Amino acid sequence: SSSPLRILITGGAGFIGSNLVRLVLGKGHQVLNADALTYAGNLNSLADLVSHPSYQFVQLDLTDSDAVADQVTEFGPDAVMHLAAESHVDRSIDGPGQFIQTNVIGTYNLLQACLVHWRSLSAEQAEAFRFLHVSTDEVYGSLGSQGQFTETTSYDPHSPYSASKAASDHLARAWHDTYKLPVLVTNCSNNYGPYQFPEKLIPVVILKCLRGESIPVYGKGDNIRDWLYVDDHCRALFDVVTKGTPGETYNIGGNNERNNLELVETLCHLLDELRPCPSGKSHSEKITFVTDRPGHDLRYAIDASKIKRELGWEPVENFESGFRKTVLWYLRHESWWEDIVSGDYKLQRFGVS
Ligand code: NAD
Ligand code: DAU
Repeated sequence: SSSPLRILITGGAGFIGSNLVRLVLGKGHQVLNADALTYAGNLNSLADLVSHPSYQFVQLDLTDSDAVADQVTEFGPDAVMHLAAESHVDRSIDGPGQFIQTNVIGTYNLLQACLVHWRSLSAEQAEAFRFLHVSTDEVYGSLGSQGQFTETTSYDPHSPYSASKAASDHLARAWHDTYKLPVLVTNCSNNYGPYQFPEKLIPVVILKCLRGESIPVYGKGDNIRDWLYVDDHCRALFDVVTKGTPGETYNIGGNNERNNLELVETLCHLLDELRPCPSGKSHSEKITFVTDRPGHDLRYAIDASKIKRELGWEPVENFESGFRKTVLWYLRHESWWEDIVSGDYKLQRFGVS
């Protein structure tokens, strides 16, 4: 529709969320970004948007059910795009508790608040309301060398992270099936691009190269991920919330499978071209094989034919274009990641310099 929507985005200070806030504002809609500002939340990623007339930010922890209910009632969204989560698999292995709190309880609190809000709407508004639950392909478990995950693949999560996301997906679908809340679920493959926190593989590799440090590859580097440029994911999320059918699930992926070692070598060679090592050697000499992640899923691959067929979505970027853009972004935004490396981003979000 052409009239502006009021969209509540949770986790908008994170990697995908900050890219999504920018896309949604660019389409002319109103955004309330609700984010707890954990270690992964960074208001520097939204610095260009602070004075945008259609943008508001509220610091909100989804585990606080009363605060969630108050914010949802006060903002009165036409649509909710729920991205807030604890997102890093290695952290979930070291400390699963917060993953259960945020991903499971937090999603439950948001669903309940949205149900109350949705029931207060006029019939016409209630019909148009949407709740998009943003999830991951990791809920489907691990593939062998063949096959792809489809929307009907059985759930088989292995890490505390993916198990908590699987639980939240089931809650979201239950709120549709039981209460008729217009819920949609998306399951997406690995994202990369601007503003990704340097704990995830691609920014880890870029920053290690730039800082001349050794590049950790888990196990033998033969695990395979299906990589999608973050803007392609955000466009898909917008298409699903505006054109998708409530009750449906949409898989999102880029048909861009790579094993980790090949991917790391590709990035090293790109950096050899764009920011050569002072020693004249290739960055790839710094690759170091380290202890594998426990329960490390071998391969993820997404069949995204449903979203293409039903909503006309397709990725725009491929490896070549997406990796180059991403590396150039990190080269041109040194202060963004240096603030993270030094820890200063935590001070700046509260306006302390
Ligand atoms: P991220 O870790 O970069 O950002 C998460 C954001 O959520 C942060 O801003 C953080 O402050 C916020 N948050 C955490 N706990 C919160 C709480 N209790 N209340 C409110 N806000 C809280 O994550 P991301 O990589 O941008 O992922 C966003 C979503 O997309 C997640 O739900 C994730 O499961 C999903 N996803 C991510 C990928 C990927 O490759 N990164 C792929 C598929 C799906
Ligand atoms: O598939 C979607 C998922 O992708 C999202 O749901 C998660 O939120 C997101 O974190 C991501 O999970 P992965 O575990 O696949 O991403 P990560 O960047 O942590 O690791 C990618 C691969 O690289 C994985 O096989 C582990 C490996 N790895 C990772 C790091 C951080 C390394 O070899 N070295 C590293 O230093």
